[in-house]
Amino acid sequence: MPTYRPDLAAIEPYEPGLPIEEVARQYGLDPAEIVKLASNESPHGPFPEAVEAMAAAAAHANRYPDNEGYELREALSRHLGVPSGAIWLGGGSSELLRTIALAVGGPGTNAVYAWPSFVIYRLGSMWALSERREVPLDGEHRHDLGAMKDAIDNDTTVVYVCNPNNPTGTHLPTDDVLEFVDSLPERITVVVDEAYAEFVTAADYRSLAAEAAERPNLIVTRTFSKIYSLASLRVGYAIAHPRTIAEMRRAQAPFTVTQVGQAGAIASLTAQAGVAARVEENARGRRIILDTLEDLGIPHADSQANFVWYKSQAADPRGDYIRAGIIVRTFGSEWVRVTVGTDAENRRFLEALRAIR
Ligand SMILES: Cc1ncc(COP(=O)(O)O)c(C=O)c1O
Repeated sequence: MPTYRPDLAAIEPYEPGLPIEEVARQYGLDPAEIVKLASNESPHGPFPEAVEAMAAAAAHANRYPDNEGYELREALSRHLGVPSGAIWLGGGSSELLRTIALAVGGPGTNAVYAWPSFVIYRLGSMWALSERREVPLDGEHRHDLGAMKDAIDNDTTVVYVCNPNNPTGTHLPTDDVLEFVDSLPERITVVVDEAYAEFVTAADYRSLAAEAAERPNLIVTRTFSKIYSLASLRVGYAIAHPRTIAEMRRAQAPFTVTQVGQAGAIASLTAQAGVAARVEENARGRRIILDTLEDLGIPHADSQANFVWYKSQAADPRGDYIRAGIIVRTFGSEWVRVTVGTDAENRRFLEALRAIR
């Protein structure tokens, strides 16, 4: 038997949402009748200009990708209004989060983050052999920044703030996050995960990209997996100070962003009218789901993302929804996270929600 790191035995490999085909096989359902609302994916395919650019890039797949991501970083620089030197690319933002954990963590350090939140903060800390300090969300399922501050000590090297938070969809006003960042010692890296930023419609929210480009202790992570529908291509990016990026890249594997993905991402950025339409569609679907939960008296969190978090009243929510042909994500035996889909998918879900609760 080969030797493995004993601490890794405590880690359960990441469990993705069930694929439609597997659910169809297991439950004897018609795949065409199943609606997958479990992984916070976009219900739409990539923008047509992205599909075209990716097809063209595929013809050159014999070459390694541009490891500097020059053109994508230039395009993001124009889109975000930050210097291209402040943009760092990764194989999905998950890869960037993992790299950050490895670059700032290690034995004797700790990582502070809210719980429940995105599982990669927990996994990254375990991979890095850092101590995990998981701070419960407040009564409204939001980050409790005061309690997070209390959890920080001299050994803290990284704090994650997921805004909006996965799995609850709740957001923090940007001014509160900035005040929190300002209140911490500069030796602590604060990661603000903005994977769902594009979906936010609240007036007190904006991206911290501009601040991150200038502050060595602040990193903002973003992704092409959600609003841009490129989840399968694995393209993420971070905005950070160039010095911070140089330190992070020491811990990053080369060539994690494919050229096909880079081409798709560049073309996607030109589709901003399509992005605006998707944001509106999502906000509409989110509103209807939240209003229905309210009408039914089902406990839920106020979401600004492309998913909604609620406490199911069913004995077996996971099984009940699957039998109704809806794949949702369950957490423990009660809490459910449902991704906002197309209008038709949302109608199917709402029908199931009224029956199953
Ligand atoms: C909060 C949050 N951050 C980051 C990610 C990672 O996305 P990706 O690795 O596809 O960029 C996800 C994916 O679900 C997420 O929910």
